[in-house]
Amino acid sequence: NYYAIVMAGGVGSRFWPSSKASNPKQFIDILGVGETLFQTTFNRLSTLIPSENIYILTNKKYVEMIKDQVPQIKDEQIVPEPEMRNTAPSILLGALKIFAKNPDALTIVAPSDHWIKDEAVFLETIQSAFDGVEKDDRLITLGIEPTFPNTGYGYIKYDKSEKNSLKKVEEFTEKPNLKKAEKFLEAGNYVWNAGIFVWSARFIIENFKKHMPEMYGIFEKGEKLWNTASEKDFLEKNYSRASNISIDYGIMEKADSVYVIPVDFKWSDLGAWSSVQSELPSDEKGNTLINARLHSHDASNNIISSYNKKIVVLKGISDYIIVEDKDVLMIVPKSEEQEIKKLREEVMKEFGDQ
Ligand code: GDD
Ligand code: MG
Repeated sequence: NYYAIVMAGGVGSRFWPSSKASNPKQFIDILGVGETLFQTTFNRLSTLIPSENIYILTNKKYVEMIKDQVPQIKDEQIVPEPEMRNTAPSILLGALKIFAKNPDALTIVAPSDHWIKDEAVFLETIQSAFDGVEKDDRLITLGIEPTFPNTGYGYIKYDKSEKNSLKKVEEFTEKPNLKKAEKFLEAGNYVWNAGIFVWSARFIIENFKKHMPEMYGIFEKGEKLWNTASEKDFLEKNYSRASNISIDYGIMEKADSVYVIPVDFKWSDLGAWSSVQSELPSDEKGNTLINARLHSHDASNNIISSYNKKIVVLKGISDYIIVEDKDVLMIVPKSEEQEIKKLREEVMKEFGDQ
C-alpha cells in the first residue's frame, strides 16, 4: 500500500547559472556526485516503495528529462502540470490519482531536490511514519532541529514532554518573519519543517475538502477521469483555475491532526550555493570543488563549480562563489549570495533566458 509523490516542478533559481527554468536544480548533478538529485531521490524511495508506485509531479516541460534520467519510470507515473501552481494543487492531484488506484494507499510526499545523509535512518523514519498513519488519521511531517532563525522554512511547535518519537504539533507556522523566527529559536520546542510528508491518500483528500473546498471543488469534477485517457484534457482545461498556494499555507497551518517526527539524519534543502559547501568535502584551504580542478595560491573558502572539469586557477581570491555554466560565468562574493536571484533576473532581461 506504499506510494510516493515526488515533487519535481520547481526551478531552484538560487542555484543559477547551473540551475535554470530549462534545466532546474533537481535534474542536475549539483553536488558533482555522478547522479542528479532527482535520480538520488528516486533510488532512495524505491528501496521502500515499489518503483511503479512512485508518481512524479512536474511541469510538462520536464517530462522528457525525467524519462531520460530514470528510464524505468512509465509514462503513467509522470504527471505533467499544465502550469506552475505551487505544491497544494499538485499534491491534491497526486493524491486523487493514487486514491483512484488504491483507496488504502499510504503516501510519502517528497521533494526531489534535497540532500539526505544516512539513507538507512531516513528509511527507518519513513517506515515509522507509515506505521503512524496506518494506525490513525494523521498528517505527519519530518522536523529538523533548527540552528539559526531561517525565515525560509516552516516552523513546527510541539510538546517537548512527549516521549514518543511521533509528536502532536501544537502550531505550524510557514515562513515566519525574522522576529518570530528568533522567538521560536529561543523557545526551544520548535523544529523546521523538512517538507517531507506522510499521510494516507484518503485523509489528505479529506483535509483538502475541509480546508480548501474551492480547490477540491475544481478537481472533484475530474473524479471519473483519473488515470484515464481523458485526464490530460481535463487538466489542460482546469488545472490553472486552482489557486497558486503551497501545501504549507493551504493545509498544514490549518489542519488539526498534524504530527511531527524530529529526524535524526543529516538533511539540507540545498537552498543556495553555500549550503552545498557544508555538505561536500573541501580542500585544506576550505575550497569546495564541483566538477572542477583547482590550482591556487592564497585562495580559500571558495565554491567552484565548473561545467566540465575545467582547471581553475586562482590567486588571491577568497570567499567567492565561482560558477561556470555552458553560457554563463558568474563570480559573486559569498556575502552577496542572496543577490543571485536578482542578478539572474537582470541577466534574463538583458540577454534573454540563460
Ligand atoms: N510538481 C511541482 N509543482 N512541484 C513544485 C511546484 C509546482 O508547482 N512548486 C514547487 N515544487 C517542488 C519544489 O521543486 C520542491 O521540491 C518542493 O516542491 C517544495 O517547494 P519549494 O518552493 O522549494 O518550497 P520552499 O522551500 O519554499 O518551502 C517548503 O520547503 C521547506 C523545506 O525545504 C515548505 O514546506 C517549508 O515549510 C519547508 O521548511
Ligand atoms: Mg525549497
